[in-house]
Amino acid sequence: MQILITKQELLQQVEACKRQGKTIGLVPTMGALHQGHASLVKRAVVENDVCFVSVFVNPTQFNNKEDLAKYPRNIERDAKLLESIGAHFVFAPTPEEMYTAEEMNTTFQYDFEGLDKVMEGKMRPGHFNGVVQVVSRLFYLVQPTRAYFGEKDFQQLAIIHQMVERSKLKDTFGDLTIVDCPIVRQADGLALSSRNERLTEAEKKLATNIYRILKESVESAKKGYSVQAIEKQVTDAINAIDGLEVEYYEIVDQSTLMPAKDFTHAIGCVTVYCGPVRLIDNIKY
Ligand code: PAF
Repeated sequence: MQILITKQELLQQVEACKRQGKTIGLVPTMGALHQGHASLVKRAVVENDVCFVSVFVNPTQFNNKEDLAKYPRNIERDAKLLESIGAHFVFAPTPEEMYTAEEMNTTFQYDFEGLDKVMEGKMRPGHFNGVVQVVSRLFYLVQPTRAYFGEKDFQQLAIIHQMVERSKLKDTFGDLTIVDCPIVRQADGLALSSRNERLTEAEKKLATNIYRILKESVESAKKGYSVQAIEKQVTDAINAIDGLEVEYYEIVDQSTLMPAKDFTHAIGCVTVYCGPVRLIDNIKY
């Protein structure tokens, strides 16, 4: 496995792969890798001739400086994990390598056609502008055949699908396929996340209630409760647990992310503060 720091090093490897007609799988990450990321990388290794993983804590997608400073980083541990599961190249640039000073200080402009106005986008203004900025840049640089993203960040995935569909019209990313990968959970239900590293053992236990309550809500939906009733049920049940606080729970259409009228093609997306740590999760109905 080779670690590439500069865009030039990356482009040399990508060009060599393209010359040899190899298919390329890309797994974009911000590091602090766990088994959820590993599941994406393993799939990319199996489905493509070559697997590139980017490890880059993208400053332009953090609307909170403290969150950026506290984001866990451990490139040595990440590299060991990636090597052990067969990744071929790790692209780990510095912010200066990725962006000009001007790009770092201005919000990337992009028309989300409303997908950024709800849930994470509403709570974290500018967040998805930074995500689209970095992901589209990685797509240009790596020219992947397939790119792998986890369903835990469901809104991000919907936005990336929209971006690629739209760019296909303009033939920007060629025949790129976005591969949706299911959430990986601990045995107790907690969705794996780099942010879990910041939870105490007691907080980790508390956080397992999130998925338990989401699962219970699917049973209530089957019994005929309305969307609004389930939104309230989930929010109240999580807030009733000392140490957990819901920021939002919204049941939306999986494609448009607009409020769901019923449970057809619906997904419930939740953000919960567990102590100081902001966790997200979701469940399909
Ligand atoms: O999901 C993430 O880890 C990030 O948002 C991504 C897609 C790697 C872009 O920085």
